[in-house]
Amino acid sequence: MAKEGVAVDFEYAKQIDKARRELRALISSRNCAPLMLRLAWHDAGTYDAKTRTGGANGSIRNQQELNHQANRGLETAVQFCEEVKAKCPRVSYADLYQLAGVIAVEVTGGPTIRFVPGRKDSLESPPEGRLPDATKDAQHLRDVFYRMGLTDKDIVALSGGHTLGKAHKERSGFEGQWTENHLKFDNSYFVELMDSKDSFKLPTDKVLVEDPEFRKYVVRYKNIMQSHTRSSQSWGSIQIVFQIAV
Ligand code: HEM
Repeated sequence: MAKEGVAVDFEYAKQIDKARRELRALISSRNCAPLMLRLAWHDAGTYDAKTRTGGANGSIRNQQELNHQANRGLETAVQFCEEVKAKCPRVSYADLYQLAGVIAVEVTGGPTIRFVPGRKDSLESPPEGRLPDATKDAQHLRDVFYRMGLTDKDIVALSGGHTLGKAHKERSGFEGQWTENHLKFDNSYFVELMDSKDSFKLPTDKVLVEDPEFRKYVVRYKNIMQSHTRSSQSWGSIQIVFQIAV
């Protein structure tokens, strides 16, 4: 979990600023915000709070971990980040991937997420199976997210990441996009989830309206129409995931 005020030196902080600019330009020119957000999430989402293993440590760049079924398609995002790493060599992969997620949310109109640098890289990949399986149920989501130290509210808020991007048959076996504009970060994921029978949903999206505890939060986020309000109320949680294992 985040340790506040991890000290980085002036030169490192300067490279983080440069990485921000480089990522902004790269993500805008290649329209790859969804993939970058997914990269950040998949590096972080292997965290196990009990053993303090996995998490945002850059290990997703290992071929072994990239080959995990859940990570299909993310090699492109890793390659894109290499271009930034070459220009900002002191920035750790762990920081770079999380910063890419933060910038992806920002350039698509989402909240500004406070970024605390200082994550250390690891070459040790966690065992396969720590990320959630989209074909499973509410209990599975709880098992995975509680393992990271997160709550029901966090599960729902973070699932709102599906306001961006698409599912690709050749990657996950699913095909579709959750919202009308897959490059705009807003709360339309929750609106579609509750109001539209026909919109694309993974089984793990559907359980958010079926399970009464999860549903409470879906209703809350659906009703927050202004993205900046929504961001401050619900996307505090993403900071938790993104700062994991600092
Ligand atoms: C709740 C458990 C979750 C499950 C089971 C899940 C599963 C999936 C699956 C199956 C895809 C499709 C991948 C493809 O075919 O390309 C996907 C895409 C995506 N996920 Fe999730 N996800 C979850 C949570 C999250 C979270 C917490 C975030 C970020 C906060 C996130 C962000 C994304 C994004 C941005 C995409 C689109 C990627 C693209 O367009 O290439 N997901 N997710």
